[in-house]
Amino acid sequence: MTKSSRIRYKPAENRYEKMKYNRCGQSGLQLPAVSLGLWHNFGDVDDFDTARGIIHRAFDLGITHFDLANNYGLPPGSAERTFGKILKADLTAYRDELIISTKAGYLMWPGPYGDWGSRKYLLASLDQSLKRLGLDYVDIFYSHRFDPNTPLDETMSALDTAVRQGKAIYAGISNYKPEQTAEATKILRQLGTPCLIHQPRYSMFDRWVEDGLLDMLEKEGIGCMCFSPLAQGLLTDKYLKGIPKDSRVAKPHGFLKREQVTESVLKKVAALNDLAQQRGQSLAQMALAWVLRDKRVTSVLAGASRVEQLEQNIAALNNLQFTDEELARIEAILKSS
Ligand SMILES: NC(=O)c1ccc[n+]([C@@H]2O[C@H](COP(=O)([O-])OP(=O)(O)OC[C@H]3O[C@@H](n4cnc5c(N)ncnc54)[C@H](OP(=O)(O)O)[C@@H]3O)[C@@H](O)[C@H]2O)c1
Repeated sequence: MTKSSRIRYKPAENRYEKMKYNRCGQSGLQLPAVSLGLWHNFGDVDDFDTARGIIHRAFDLGITHFDLANNYGLPPGSAERTFGKILKADLTAYRDELIISTKAGYLMWPGPYGDWGSRKYLLASLDQSLKRLGLDYVDIFYSHRFDPNTPLDETMSALDTAVRQGKAIYAGISNYKPEQTAEATKILRQLGTPCLIHQPRYSMFDRWVEDGLLDMLEKEGIGCMCFSPLAQGLLTDKYLKGIPKDSRVAKPHGFLKREQVTESVLKKVAALNDLAQQRGQSLAQMALAWVLRDKRVTSVLAGASRVEQLEQNIAALNNLQFTDEELARIEAILKSS
């Protein structure tokens, strides 16, 4: 038995007092402005008690949305198992207060049916995810990426089936380009299962969504859940004095690699860090606030390897305003070489 499994969790009674909830596109669903992603830090390679502490604190602070995918954790699937364990032990009574998402689209099992966008893969994967999570349904089921070799009608029909079977409440897409999004949206609408949400990467360091996607989502009434808003930790002060031993870069299974921490990146990070301090925020907080400055963004989907990071990130909501001058300074820093 782990240390934390002996502790009985009781959620904070004031958990809905401080979080900001934004409407997801033109749907009836509201999502917290800060959501928690379980890609890293929740696998079998990670510490269970820390993972459990992060989930508890997140729920206590008003985070109702937890984002997973079939392949999250190391080994793949272990993040869903970890979350399932925590749900069962601590949150069963609160299932109707939670929005839990999962996805399928990247390699999950060998052979031709464990990858991409076939109906066979998506529906089998969702069944596996539900087993790992110990749930009858997820709230959002995503196609994790566009598959150029499967008719989009087939991939979208799998999302529609998942919803009709009651295994998902809403359908979403992730990493789809604007023209792929337009087509997917049209098909889903014809099927009678509107696309609730798109999940693209968006941060100060990766701004592809500004080139048509955000406009399209607004036009179609679709929400936008922005992942890796901290560029996996680069947009914080943590790498300014070297590579900490417990950071994502230092971990052998981390997706952020040493080569990505370049002189030029660090120069920008240092300048952004100065500006954040002048605003009375940490750089992590300013980076999250910057993504949330766009009203088309429903939520920032951040990760955390410990409770203090989560607390710091949620406190970004205390200052979401930017002056024109601050925004211009950020643009200049991002454009500098
Ligand atoms: N749809 C997709 O294709 C896709 C792809 C990637 C991610 N996602 C989703 O997006 C979620 C978030 O992605 P991400 O983890 O890359 O997000 P991120 O928020 O950009 O990075 C999170 C990492 O940054 C560090 N960090 C967080 N807060 C910090 C703070 N206040 N100060 C210093 N360091 C801090 C931690 O790493 P350390 O370990 O260094 O402490 C943390 O694990 C994922 O969990 C997943 O749900 C989706």
